Amino acid sequence: MKIVEERTSAGAVTLYDFEPTPDRICEDVTRGLTAYPKKLPPKYFYDEAGAKLFEDITHLEAYYPTRTEISILRAHAADIAGAIGPHARLVELGSGSGDKTWILLRSLDSPAAYIPIDISRTQLIEFALKVSEAFPELEVAPVCADYTAELELPPAAGASGRTVAFFPGSTIGNLEPADAERFLARIRRLVGADGGLVLGVDLRKDPAVIVRAYNDPEGVTAEFNLNLLRRINRECGGDFDLDAFSHRAIFDPAGSRIEMQLVSSRSQVVRLQPDPDFGGVVEVSFDSGEHITTEYSHKYDLGSFADMAARAGWEISSGWTDDRGWFSVLLLK
Ligand code: AVI
Repeated sequence: MKIVEERTSAGAVTLYDFEPTPDRICEDVTRGLTAYPKKLPPKYFYDEAGAKLFEDITHLEAYYPTRTEISILRAHAADIAGAIGPHARLVELGSGSGDKTWILLRSLDSPAAYIPIDISRTQLIEFALKVSEAFPELEVAPVCADYTAELELPPAAGASGRTVAFFPGSTIGNLEPADAERFLARIRRLVGADGGLVLGVDLRKDPAVIVRAYNDPEGVTAEFNLNLLRRINRECGGDFDLDAFSHRAIFDPAGSRIEMQLVSSRSQVVRLQPDPDFGGVVEVSFDSGEHITTEYSHKYDLGSFADMAARAGWEISSGWTDDRGWFSVLLLK
């Protein structure tokens, strides 16, 4: 880990840089498309266009999770802050643009430090500087790292309270249950014996509501899904014809999850040239109607989430839910 002083016109922060290894998108894509059934990792949705499309999704009427989570955080900010306690060290996993962070930071009682962790260095530094400017008393210690990998936290001089991780957005739902459990166990080790985790969990509800959230009438989610093929074409020398694939999102009641797919409308062969220097071409054949799974989004009921959390060493200490019971913000201890 490198410790560097980052200076911009907006100020200076100390960055703890784990120098995360860049993603190997073309290797992952080749592996996923040559497997059966075909699958692509959802983390590759978020190129510049994909991040913008996701931001648009969060404002859609049909996509209830973001709006609902924010309303819970706003309505219960004081209780959440009270349950966290004073002088805490808040660690945000995947801080991104940090919309929900402000709600929590404004309510906490004399927080000692804020540690945003993100893989995107530029966005991380920009956000850390904004927080630092808004809370001059707060120690802000950004960590550039892949929060899904092993990492250590920087020391925080004035932290006499607990270390509490913050993982909003129901992103836990995008992990398969075994990975979600491993992830929870790792965060448990990261925050230590007295630590906590505040996270957003999208709950099981009428499947029609869930299906609509991933099949919005405006077609933004379809565009977000198809953008993955556009990215593969650009970054891995692909020749996907975007008109020959369509977006599908179905609810699987047994897995209690949405499965997003890209469905081939005809039998076709797609070529990729993952390494132009090497020159190798990978050919991927599709039958008509065959699909690529691009994302799972699990919807938990509180009981099964509590069981999984318990296997990872956590107990639900408090929970807050909206009136319809669609989404929950939980504090684990
Ligand atoms: C980031 N994640 C929690 C979103 C979800 O709802 O699973 C990603 C998403 N995919 C389609 N719409 C939103």
